[in-house]
Amino acid sequence: MNLILLGPPGAGKGTQAAMIVEKYNIPHISTGDIFRENIKNGTKLGKKAKAYMDKGELVPDSLVIEIAEDRLRKEDCKEGFLLDGFPRTVEQAVALDAFLADEGKKVDHVLDIDVDKPELLKRITGRRVCQACGATFHVTGMPPKVEGVCDKCGGELIQRADDTVETAENRIEVYNSQTKPLLDYYDRAGNIAHLDGAIGKDNLFVKITEILGE
Ligand code: AP5
Repeated sequence: MNLILLGPPGAGKGTQAAMIVEKYNIPHISTGDIFRENIKNGTKLGKKAKAYMDKGELVPDSLVIEIAEDRLRKEDCKEGFLLDGFPRTVEQAVALDAFLADEGKKVDHVLDIDVDKPELLKRITGRRVCQACGATFHVTGMPPKVEGVCDKCGGELIQRADDTVETAENRIEVYNSQTKPLLDYYDRAGNIAHLDGAIGKDNLFVKITEILGE
């Protein structure tokens, strides 16, 4: 099962991804997480990506495509994968289709999660993530049992550097101008499902499992 999660920043892609990969036992590939890991480790790639991410801009296609393809070549992707945050431009989608065709594969389902802008801003600015295991919480919507502490591993919860109001506003604009055209791309391919992301995380997950099957 080869899946893509699409949607604006804060729509709940990472939240649904965690549930999908657990149920369907496929790897979760988040290009944003790959970049954040590189930033944390101070790599060359991390330094390059940080300059774009801090402003809410997209990292250049050439860099992202190479990283995504390297990850998709790994053994654990043989039986399927869940892409979260990639592709994000039509150029990335075309490159992905060509890469998969070469491997005798295709995208099976694209799940597009939509949420309106005021709700996105609330979700992004209230998000807290575990520095140790990456679990996601929200200060009011999905608070941890103990403030600042991850329920799952006891790690410290922090706010992402790009989760300020100003950067979030720009990320949403960048999504509308550069990523939204992908909806037409996958509408033409006929493999996209449009989902209302405002219905609560568990209800949304039920809708997703109805599409993907048991
Ligand atoms: P990336 O890490 O991919 O971030 P994003 O797409 O902006 O998405 P987010 O992680 O902000 O949100 P999400 O949809 O996962 O929401 P979440 O589940 O956390 O990208 C970051 C940056 O990296 C980009 O700006 C770019 O610079 C670069 N980059 C990455 N990939 C790239 C690419 N392919 N090309 C170029 N550049 C790239 O939920 C958000 C909050 O809402 C949480 O607090 C959560 O608890 C809450 N929540 C979730 N679901 C619900 C619900 N149903 N109801 C109520 N609250 C909910």
